[in-house]
Amino acid sequence: MEYVTLGRTGLRASVLGLGGGGHSRLGQKTGASADDSSAIVRRALELGVNFIDTAEAYGTEALIGAALQGVNRQDVILSTKKSPVADGQPISAQTLVAALDASLARLGTDYVDIYHLHGVRAEHYARAAEELVPALERLRDAGKIRFLGITEVFGSDTGHAMLARAVHDPCWDVMMVGFNMLNQSARERVLAETQRRGIGTLCMFAVRDALSRPAKLREVVAGLVAQGALDPAKIDLDNALGFLLEAADSLPEAAYRFCRAEPGLDVILSGTGNPQHLEENVAAIVRPPLPEPLRQRVIDLFGAIDSVSGQ
Ligand SMILES: NC(=O)c1ccc[n+]([C@@H]2O[C@H](COP(=O)([O-])OP(=O)(O)OC[C@H]3O[C@@H](n4cnc5c(N)ncnc54)[C@H](OP(=O)(O)O)[C@@H]3O)[C@@H](O)[C@H]2O)c1
Repeated sequence: MEYVTLGRTGLRASVLGLGGGGHSRLGQKTGASADDSSAIVRRALELGVNFIDTAEAYGTEALIGAALQGVNRQDVILSTKKSPVADGQPISAQTLVAALDASLARLGTDYVDIYHLHGVRAEHYARAAEELVPALERLRDAGKIRFLGITEVFGSDTGHAMLARAVHDPCWDVMMVGFNMLNQSARERVLAETQRRGIGTLCMFAVRDALSRPAKLREVVAGLVAQGALDPAKIDLDNALGFLLEAADSLPEAAYRFCRAEPGLDVILSGTGNPQHLEENVAAIVRPPLPEPLRQRVIDLFGAIDSVSGQ
């Protein structure tokens, strides 16, 4: 494993972080037992992964807590989250404080390294920043949170409207941003500024469905061609990224390597419930960047696209 400094937090994080959400939720969404999912967490630690992301909403905090029993707390960076909205209504600071306590209990710890406002929509940002950031700062002063984070809803906010605004506020130490080969718009809209400000970044959606399921990639590419965002003459509609297989064993491998090589992305999150995928993804992240002509071809094809997430 290789390690990176997570912006101004100074935390030394593994370049691959284990994601406890997404379509796998450590296998909880695909039929795994709690023991199977805990085994994924423990295997990740053995492979040198020290960054684990979860959220109240994922239902994986307790099994991560179980997997971390007996592990030295200082050896793991724990990231969890709480949505600023419940049933369409903004939550109160009091609700946030109670939610953190519940997360800490499930995780079996008395602090989290990063506590994020989860999936903040642009229209909710101003109120969340005004009402909830002071509460987060008090929790940090009380030692329950080390750093403040915020994550976007990349599935719908594919152009980063929320983070492009949040990045100018001084309170955020860490941001979780959607970025992958099919939508690189964070490069200009978010990562240019996070690098200037020393905000640590976590990459989500590196693979998701479109880069792990060929049928989904065909669907996304067909949609982009229909919108006029891709020139069909320049692309193999059945296998749009097949050219990467001359340098990578699989598209997920190419996808993680592409993100790892992106300046300004610190930790690349990988969500999996499959032990074999975990091994492959850890191996992928420490492979060299894709050869520059291939990386450039991905940028030439998809670099101007901001309308898809790969969801
Ligand atoms: N708004 C937010 O705050 C937000 C939103 C989304 C995600 N996140 C965080 O970001 C993390 C990463 O997102 P993600 O889980 O969508 O991650 P991802 O790593 O981009 O994609 C994971 C998907 O790819 C599959 N996969 C992984 N490795 C594979 C491989 N080697 N070969 C084939 N398929 C593979 C997984 O299925 P298998 O289980 O079969 O491997 C899963 O369906 C989440 O877990 C969560 O912690 C946060």
